[in-house]
Amino acid sequence: MSHTPHIDSAELQSLVEVDRVHRRCYSDPDIFELEMKNIFEKTWQYCGHESQIPKPGDYYTFQIGRQPMVMVRGEPTASHPEGEISVLYNRCPHRGVQVCGSRAGNAGDKLTCPYHAWSYSTDGALVTTPGELFGVPGYKKYYHEELDKKEWGLVPVAQMVNYRGTIWATWDRNAAPFEDYLGSMRLWLDSALDHRDGREGGSVVLVGVQKWRTNCNWKFPATNFIGDAAHVVTHRSVDMVNLNPSGTEGRRDERPEGHAAFGWPDLGHGGLGFASRPEEEFPRLASFQKYTHVSEYLANAAQAHRARRAGRIHQQGKGTIFPNMSFHEDQPRTIIVHNPISPTQTEFWRYYLIDADAPAEVQDTLRHYYMTYSGPGGMTEQDDLENWTSATEASQGAVSRRFPYNYQQGLRYSVPYEGLPGAVWCGERVTEQNQLIWLKRWAEFMEGRDWDQLMRRSQVSNDVSFPIKLVR
Ligand code: FES
Ligand code: FE
Repeated sequence: MSHTPHIDSAELQSLVEVDRVHRRCYSDPDIFELEMKNIFEKTWQYCGHESQIPKPGDYYTFQIGRQPMVMVRGEPTASHPEGEISVLYNRCPHRGVQVCGSRAGNAGDKLTCPYHAWSYSTDGALVTTPGELFGVPGYKKYYHEELDKKEWGLVPVAQMVNYRGTIWATWDRNAAPFEDYLGSMRLWLDSALDHRDGREGGSVVLVGVQKWRTNCNWKFPATNFIGDAAHVVTHRSVDMVNLNPSGTEGRRDERPEGHAAFGWPDLGHGGLGFASRPEEEFPRLASFQKYTHVSEYLANAAQAHRARRAGRIHQQGKGTIFPNMSFHEDQPRTIIVHNPISPTQTEFWRYYLIDADAPAEVQDTLRHYYMTYSGPGGMTEQDDLENWTSATEASQGAVSRRFPYNYQQGLRYSVPYEGLPGAVWCGERVTEQNQLIWLKRWAEFMEGRDWDQLMRRSQVSNDVSFPIKLVR
């Protein structure tokens, strides 16, 4: 049950300090409620992929924070020949019942509420055309045609974008434009979303979405995927059985030179990645030698990609887009959303990406491989989930809460990185620079700054040694 957060600015200020974070952040119900309001009703949120709703009338349900949402494709029009996509609050304005109840489907040209059958067109407008079961039943006889259609439609999000096939939305009409919000982290997201041969977008979601709940606070996974390269020991058992696509030792192939942690201090994003110069070979982290048909497919695609990017530096990486969307560009190629359920519970939604026109055999092999690696049945993911559950348990209880968590690794060693405007790095993969950057951004949103303040620092800040103090 939700309640009004009672937490003042002075209290907030004591939670995140220069090199330590109070455990309360990871378990307190008041902090969680404030996150729902100041972070999830404000930031750009990942909704899903357009390939999940290919036909008019197709819909896909998801959530923003704890709110049920639906994205739906309309009929083709002159301005939207493929059908316009709308993102709507999936609750009927009449009495609040969830309109689209199943995970996905096709609603035809109307979304109809199962309670009293109010119906909505695919852009959310209330339909009052008289009908037996659709429109607003009894619109003429019982409502005397006085119901205001404009006022009682499904609530649309304030802003929505389709970015290279991925759908993003925010409840805040004043939110910064999506590409400003993303900054140059965009180049890394592109490396996950684009076709392996370098074509813009060109990817689809492979089969369905894996969903599972774990007893952990959502911030542990968000700040793990932002680039916690120090936790490699966690996956020692996976390394020992060589659960990788190349057949060589470890979980992954060799990493190219310069593979390091990069963070965006002004935006809160970060991850692990690298740049390759135009004259260099196009490195991929996963070569898939174990599966000849996959490695041949990827080698051909990489050749086409090199030709396409001739003369340009290539950026590639994985990480977290503030606050709760993480992606891997390569191994496995996937998106994961950390949906907050309660201070101590998170629901994970994992999407796997594949080139839309990859041969069926390649898709099938990758699907099998990805599921042994990631997701609730994947060996690597299970290791991580255990850590986050344990850390969340340790964040509860009066005595435990007296002792903060340490975040000082690599503090003060980061400098601007020219290849990625707005990003900093310290030349290493192992550093807590990115976690600190994320937590600093978290604090800025939590204190309720407006978008002017949030986006004010336009140029690169070299200041990751900030005291992460909240200011009024
Ligand atoms: Fe939806 Fe009544 S609650 S029609
Ligand atoms: Fe891990």
